[in-house]
Amino acid sequence: MKVLVSDPISDKGIEILKKEVEVDVLTGLEPSELVKKIGEYEALIVRSETKVTKEVIEAGKSLKIIGRAGVGVDNIDVAAATGKGIIVVNAPEGNTISAAEHTIAMMMAMSRNIPQANASLKNKKWDRKKFMGVEVRDKTLGVVGLGRIGAEVAKRAQGMEMKILAYDPFITPGRAGELGVELTTVEDIVKRADYITVHTPLTKETTNLIGAKQFGMMKKGARIINCARGGIINEEALAKAVHDGTVASAAIDVFVKEPPFDSPLLENDNIIVTPHLGASTEEAQVNVAVSVAEQVINVHKGRPVKNAINMPYVKPEVMQVLEPYFPLAEKMGKMCTQLIGTNFERIDISYSGEIADKNVAPVTLAVLKGLLEPMLGAGVNYVNAPGIAKERKVKVTESKSKTTEGYPSQVSVKLSREGEEKMVCGTIIGKEPRIIRIDEYSIDVVPSGYMIVAKHKDNPNIIGPCCMILGKNNINIAGMQVGRISAGGDAIMVLGVDSDVPDRILNEIKSVDGIIDAKRVVL
Ligand code: NAD
Ligand code: MLT
Repeated sequence: MKVLVSDPISDKGIEILKKEVEVDVLTGLEPSELVKKIGEYEALIVRSETKVTKEVIEAGKSLKIIGRAGVGVDNIDVAAATGKGIIVVNAPEGNTISAAEHTIAMMMAMSRNIPQANASLKNKKWDRKKFMGVEVRDKTLGVVGLGRIGAEVAKRAQGMEMKILAYDPFITPGRAGELGVELTTVEDIVKRADYITVHTPLTKETTNLIGAKQFGMMKKGARIINCARGGIINEEALAKAVHDGTVASAAIDVFVKEPPFDSPLLENDNIIVTPHLGASTEEAQVNVAVSVAEQVINVHKGRPVKNAINMPYVKPEVMQVLEPYFPLAEKMGKMCTQLIGTNFERIDISYSGEIADKNVAPVTLAVLKGLLEPMLGAGVNYVNAPGIAKERKVKVTESKSKTTEGYPSQVSVKLSREGEEKMVCGTIIGKEPRIIRIDEYSIDVVPSGYMIVAKHKDNPNIIGPCCMILGKNNINIAGMQVGRISAGGDAIMVLGVDSDVPDRILNEIKSVDGIIDAKRVVL
């Protein structure tokens, strides 16, 4: 794998990468240079400076993964990456504490005019009156967005005896209770809070979340902090509110356009600013670089990643349980498509037994990948498989049940199209994948290599002639399983062979008296 690191990240991350893959660190590339170069690489690692646009993604013909050494992925066109099957990962936990501490530092620096006083004294002025500050104790802090950073800010502010109001539509009253904060609305926060800090991602809903209307309702003399993303607080409206005294002061780390040299926020001494430093600590930079480097290596080695933005999140301990199911699920999917053909209309995936308790979403992705691969080859992966199924108008259902047929856990995949169905069931024995049923026939087959799956009459003198055909064509039989429901009825034979079976030989097998149908399966 060749990895391009296009923004500065900690050497610790680079060291991890260099042990396993080829790495180029090329920071400060112009967008057009990045478009020209990206085609050579299978992985791209960025912070917030590089804009990973649709154009970059389209030029990245070999890209498998884009890693964001940090939280926000607003500089990456995730939809375009998903469409191309590129995994986007971030490092959401590594800089939480640094960003929360920076927020508190900005709140205190703003309350005590520290940057202004520092600049004044260095200008040889001893002005103690001008820089009179305020205490934060007993003040109300409104936290908008009570996720990782918002919660850590709330905890720290409580340590300074502040009262916390919070707004976050995705936080339960239980979680708010645990944090000792009062959950309320943005409107209530702007009316009651002495300090307001935002910690949401930048989305359509959060853009201008605090704008002219909110400043119009704000408690006079409120103080504003933004260490999340530029644009959550409208910059012009904030500059105006500070100018007219509605807002006493503001502390801003992030800007709509970075660097923000034309921003009105740089023009007022009551607004203190830092150049996007929330995550700029030694600790955070090591954490995020290591996390992203490890995830890139995982993709290189075909292992699951922990923080994929465009794939379902699964806790590491659950991932360990699910790991053996990925190859099983892919192989079941591939087998189904080869048994029924590619024009299926519906996929029903069911999980029973112990696995049904888990978040099986990634296993479902593995089934979909396996099902679509015989049609689309390497172009399909865990990221784009659901989108491809949807585009093809294939209905996908997932169901779970506690009861199994004798195995602790079982996965079933049923493909259907008008008037026809094919079902394959599998399980894990030890750590090994097994196919335990095809349609109504119980079998026990290790899904690998070349196979012939033949439905036939359960009569004498059918299996023998099939084996003879293979033998005379020099195709070695590695294993054989037969499943039937009742003696003399229909049965299924699964022959594992050491090499591919050409059409000519398959047709010969199909013509054996008593063979109903025979399919070649390659796993
Ligand atoms: P997070 O995902 O843990 O938390 C974000 C919270 O915002 C979630 O709880 C979510 O429910 C909430 N939210 C989403 N939409 C909302 C809305 N419309 N109104 C209110 N709440 C809403 O993320 P995090 O790790 O806490 O990061 C928060 C922000 O800080 C992100 O924008 C991230 O990019 C930014 N960040 C900045 C720096 C920096 O250097 N300044 C460093 C790290 C993170
Ligand atoms: C983030 O979202 O993680 C921060 O903005 C920090 C960074 O850009 O590295």
